[in-house]
Amino acid sequence: MNIQSTLKIAVVAASAFAFFFAQPAEAADGKNAYKKYCQACHQPAGKGLAGVFPPLADNPNIKDKPDYIAQTIVKGKSGAVTVNGTTYNGSMPPMAYLKDTDIAAIVNYVNTELANGSSTIQADAVAGSR
Ligand code: HEC
Repeated sequence: MNIQSTLKIAVVAASAFAFFFAQPAEAADGKNAYKKYCQACHQPAGKGLAGVFPPLADNPNIKDKPDYIAQTIVKGKSGAVTVNGTTYNGSMPPMAYLKDTDIAAIVNYVNTELANGSSTIQADAVAGSR
């Protein structure tokens, strides 16, 4: 085998690796960023704390509303919200210091893994909501 075909095989193998691992890596990033930036309040798996921190899991207010979730992260939130019959009247601090890519990954994790949604958002759409 000559050097060219060895290189070709290496390139094909690297692309295949990137293809198979790109998607799960992004989902994992969203989960890790959720743990780092959201979980202290919204609790593991987005279960919330009744009357204090609203759940993100099975929350119909946020299901398939990636723009609303992104906006909440960027601008924070206060005022009454009712989730599945329980009312919350707290205050979430704005987290505009997070990068667009991190916010998009968090939003996609929250919507598709916790809130039973299917729609996703890209980082450039987050930039537009700032
Ligand atoms: C310091 C605690 C805290 C942190 C950290 C926090 N939140 Fe919140 N979040 C809250 C509170 C409190 C509310 C309810 C605000 C209200 O009563 O208006 C809320 C509301 C929300 C809502 C709106 C829920 C609804 O039913 O309308 C979303 C979406 C949300 N948070 C997502 C996130 C995400 C994603 C993160 C991480 C990037 C995060 N939050 C980090 C405390 C927090």
